Parts: sequence; C-alpha cells; structure tokens
Amino acid sequence: MAKSKKTVSKRQNYDDVWKNSSIDGHFKADIPQKMLELFKQEKVQTVLDLGAGDGTIAVALAKQGKTVYALEISNEGIEKTKAQAQEAQVSVHVLEQDMYQALPFEDRSLDAVIAFQSLNHNTLPKIEKLFAEITRILKHGGLFIVKAANFNSFDLKDLGDGLYEDSHGGISCTLRFSDKQTYVPQDGPEKGLTHYAFLPEQLTEKIEALEYTQIYAEILQWHILAMFKKNEPNIHI
Ligand SMILES: C[S@@+](CC[C@H](N)C(=O)[O-])C[C@H]1O[C@@H](n2cnc3c(N)ncnc32)[C@H](O)[C@@H]1O
Repeated sequence: MAKSKKTVSKRQNYDDVWKNSSIDGHFKADIPQKMLELFKQEKVQTVLDLGAGDGTIAVALAKQGKTVYALEISNEGIEKTKAQAQEAQVSVHVLEQDMYQALPFEDRSLDAVIAFQSLNHNTLPKIEKLFAEITRILKHGGLFIVKAANFNSFDLKDLGDGLYEDSHGGISCTLRFSDKQTYVPQDGPEKGLTHYAFLPEQLTEKIEALEYTQIYAEILQWHILAMFKKNEPNIHI
C-alpha cells in the first residue's frame, strides 16, 4: 500500500532517533516482572508490541515461546529487531507500520497488546483512536500493558510564548506546548515530534472507560506503568 507523505516523514524522523540513540542511551528496554507473571497467569500466547523499538522486549517474549508481532514505524528499529531475533534464533513477526493507522488484526484475535514508551507520540485524539483499535483486536480477558510518560514528572520552566524548558529525565530540552499536555520538543533526539503526556488517573480513566479493569499500576521515575484486563462481555457495571 502507498505510504502517505506524512507517514514517510514521521518514519524518517524515527529512523534518525534510532540512528542517534546510541549516543545518549535514550532508549532502554525494560521488561516488568509483573507483566511476565501476568502473562503466565493468564496463559498469554499472542502478543502485539506497539512501537517495538529495537525488539528487545519482543525477542525476550518470543524466547518464552510466545507468538510475537513487533510493530514499528522506523526501519532502523525493524532491522535491529530482525537482527536480535536472528541472533536469539527465534521468530518475531515484524510489521513496519504507523501504529495510528488501522492495525492488521482480526477482531478479538490477540491475548495481549503492549506499548512501552511508544503510544504517546501523537495528540490525545489520535491516541484515543488507537485505544479503540487496541480494544477491537484484543480478546475478552486480554491484557493491555502500557508504559507512558507521566506529566506529573515534568519539571517545567516557563520561557514564554508557549515554550518551556523541561529538565526531567536527566536531559534538558525545550518543549513547545500546544495545550496543557501536548508538546513538541524543539531540540534533543525527538526534536519536532508531537508527544502527549498523561496524568496517572487520566490514563486509568480513559482506558477503563472502554472495556477494561485496571489490575496493576505503578508510578515509575518518569513514567506510568499500567496493566488492564479487557472485561468479559457479561460484565455490566
Ligand atoms: C522510546 S522508544 C521505545 C521502544 C520500545 N518499546 C522499548 O521500550 O524499548 C519508542 C518507539 O516507538 C516508535 N514509534 C513512535 N511513533 C510510532 C508510530 N506512530 N508507529 C509505530 N512506532 C512508533 C519509535 O520509532 C520508537 O522505536
């Protein structure tokens, strides 16, 4: 399928992020033990990793015998994922795609969807559309695990004109806000890319308002880690 100009330039941007990622160790995949325990308990077999990055998490799950789909917009990330899978001698289904487009899965076909530091790369309306799409493809009783930027951890200094200096995360960066929680970094590795940061209770509300029950939440240093279970169809609140 032909890719839109917007998708192509977004891809180039993320390719650049990946090419530069070794400079400051910007991405560090982290696999929460709690998620692995839940996957075992709920007998998760099929997992979609949204914004899989270099495939570290996808490959670790494939090594546990799971069927893993690693979706990633950046070709650099895709190539790193393929190389890691090959080295580990496991199979990972790689999907080079923008996660904010329709996801190529049947309704209620997956046991789990994970999104680690990835689904906040857009505006809130686009993220809400993605939540609906995730809900469509997850089985009832399926798990949605998300690690997203926590707006409460931002350390902002008002520079005027919608510009703020943010020094959270150990990297000082200038951000231009278009509303309270939507911003575009003006410098640093993700310069020019739209981001949205959630408040913890807001993330819970947005996802529970669909068809989920939150089963775990943790406030990490700069992120919210939240785990949701899609309700069975006979649950009416
Ligand atoms: C901070 S990295 C996290 C990578 C991985 N999930 C991890 O935890 O190590 C964010 C990833 O999301 C990808 N990404 C950003 N926007 C995307 C989009 N619209 N569609 C698919 N992937 C996207 C980026 O290319 C990048 O690899």
